[in-house]
Amino acid sequence: MSWASIAIVTGLLFLAATPSEAFYRDDCYNSTRGEERELCLRRSLLRRQAVAAPSSSCPKGCTVHGVCHEDIGRCDCPRHFTGPACSTVVPSISKLCAKYSIKLRDFGKDSPCFNNCNQRGRCIAGICHCQPGYWGIDCAISWGPNGKMQLLDGNYVERKTGVKVYIYELPSNMTSWYPFMRMDRPVHLMFWQRLMSSGMRTLDGNKADYFYIPINTRTGSLAREELEWTLPYIKKTYPWWSKDNGNRHLIIHTGDMGINDFPLATRRELNESLSNITWLTHWGLHEYHPIAKWYPAHRPGKDIVIPVMIMTQGFHLSPMNPRMEAEIKAQGAPRLRNGTLFFAGRICGDRDLPDPKTGKCGPGHEDYSFGVRQAVYLQHRNVKGFRIVAWTSTYLEDISSHKFCLAPVGGGHGKRNILVAFMGCLPVLIGDHVLQPFEPEIDWSRFSISVPEADIPDLPRILANVPASEVASKQKRLRCAAQHMFYSSTLGAILGEDGRYDAFETLMEILRVRKEHPDVPPEKYQKVDQRFRKFINCDLDDEVNPVPLCTQGKEMQLVDRKSCKDCRRKDGTSNSFFNSAGGMLCCEDHDMTKCPRGWK
Ligand SMILES: *[C@@H]1O[C@H](CO)[C@@H](O)[C@H](O)[C@H]1NC(C)=O
Ligand SMILES: *[C@@H]1O[C@H](CO)[C@@H](O)[C@H](O)[C@H]1NC(C)=O
Ligand SMILES: *[C@@H]1O[C@H](CO)[C@@H](O)[C@H](O)[C@H]1NC(C)=O
Ligand SMILES: *[C@@H]1O[C@H](CO)[C@@H](O)[C@H](O)[C@H]1NC(C)=O
Ligand SMILES: *[C@@H]1O[C@H](CO)[C@@H](O)[C@H](O)[C@H]1NC(C)=O
Repeated sequence: MSWASIAIVTGLLFLAATPSEAFYRDDCYNSTRGEERELCLRRSLLRRQAVAAPSSSCPKGCTVHGVCHEDIGRCDCPRHFTGPACSTVVPSISKLCAKYSIKLRDFGKDSPCFNNCNQRGRCIAGICHCQPGYWGIDCAISWGPNGKMQLLDGNYVERKTGVKVYIYELPSNMTSWYPFMRMDRPVHLMFWQRLMSSGMRTLDGNKADYFYIPINTRTGSLAREELEWTLPYIKKTYPWWSKDNGNRHLIIHTGDMGINDFPLATRRELNESLSNITWLTHWGLHEYHPIAKWYPAHRPGKDIVIPVMIMTQGFHLSPMNPRMEAEIKAQGAPRLRNGTLFFAGRICGDRDLPDPKTGKCGPGHEDYSFGVRQAVYLQHRNVKGFRIVAWTSTYLEDISSHKFCLAPVGGGHGKRNILVAFMGCLPVLIGDHVLQPFEPEIDWSRFSISVPEADIPDLPRILANVPASEVASKQKRLRCAAQHMFYSSTLGAILGEDGRYDAFETLMEILRVRKEHPDVPPEKYQKVDQRFRKFINCDLDDEVNPVPLCTQGKEMQLVDRKSCKDCRRKDGTSNSFFNSAGGMLCCEDHDMTKCPRGWK
């Protein structure tokens, strides 16, 4: 055991054994600085004014250790406390750890808190311990003077247009400490965080167009447990599900196979009693795939394929990054894409290559990538201008020096479709019956090449026959398309963009059109909705105040923009986005009520 972990264990035991009341007391945190203190006192005043508010229905003593979720009377316990009023100390943390295979260091006191608790609570080990009178994952909710719930003391700025989303607040054991530190694909949290800062959140389910269930369905058995606990809970606790049979309810799932990641029994339920949920996943397989023997996981028109959150190191070196563009221009010679087709990566799903005689991968990998990577590798790796390899040390350079880049499926969804688009290389999509992110709402044929699996033998000829003019016009469209594929309002900018067309906003636009034209199939959205068409072409003409986003990659930052690394550092806790209220959009000011917004 290292010294650091001993220190944490000791700290934990201390905290568990002698919970300090002062820790949770509403004492304005001994604020001495003028502004902070004033804010604190104002809030206390507001709370006292909230006379019309129903009295708390939480069990007595809840706020000594926990957070009272006032509107439903639920007392949310921090880790190592339990019971109706969170007054029981969990006897053995190690047992809890074992149950969820959590490492003790995941409890580290530096665990970030969602939106840094909006300065209305204390962040202890990844959970906001809200000041009395505030609740929610980031302490954003309180009673208003009119007896209605309010966000950020009534200072939440709502967007005038677009949809309104209601977010279920779940017990903190469902939403905080373990997922934060254990998530490898935290899209559901980042989406949630953006809902908070986007002006699209409503606390009034009657006014909501959509309902977001913010659970972590990614992590193994925990995922199943969350699903199985949460759905009955929200059905029982809130009126919104039954009002609409679970329609307009959204869940994000980031696993490779979409909802087919779940065990059969869960899938049956999802297919039957829970079939009205809209799943936002990365996996767009919508028909049975006879070669791989994979079942459909996506229902076109019901579910939405959302982009993978890519953070590939160095992809800010895209030739479309304004700084790179300027550099290339200064050099006088544009970069040459003299290679034809590039692919580097797993071909069998592991380190192996397919058997040259049978063309098959080893046991357990026969179905990997529907056999697409294997076929392209075996048939075309020696074609002039093609570079199809299992590994390269010059990945991004290679993508940048080829016209076309293979974007096949993997063990489920891939991510090259997005990455290569960012690097200005035209994606060559192979994988039958698989929809790409935001397809068909976005017409991928305008900036990619789609090749049916049956035509793989013909690939060299197909690519050779794409006219240069078509390559050029498709390349041009990548700049806009790539914006829709990246969560820049959460993660920062790459192409000098302001985030208004980013993946989050694109999803919200799709949800808006769906609400306004419920009977129109998604491939027709651009036809019936002019604003949507303009949006998809990154060509909106309404006035906005561009929000300066921080930029990815310190060395490439625009002179007038902050590096996202600096934003993350601001709160002192490692490199997490969660503790920056509102995400990178609000990098300049961590008070969400002041966070700059590019909308009306
Ligand atoms: C507030 O100040 C008092 C007196 O200095 C101290 O004992 C207490 O720990 C402080 N509380 C917090 C939450 O920092
Ligand atoms: C989380 O807390 C709720 C409410 O206190 C409880 O019913 C549930 O079993 C807990 N779930 C886990 C995974 O601990
Ligand atoms: C889901 O339900 C549909 C009919 O509602 C049925 O055709 C299909 O086989 C079911 N799929 C699974 C995996 O149960
Ligand atoms: C799904 O929604 C439709 C329309 O509201 C409803 O008729 C149907 O019963 C719902 N299905 C389930 C399984 O709740
Ligand atoms: C492309 O051009 C570069 C520089 O002239 C050269 O090194 C490279 O081998 C060429 N690649 C191909 C695939 O022709």
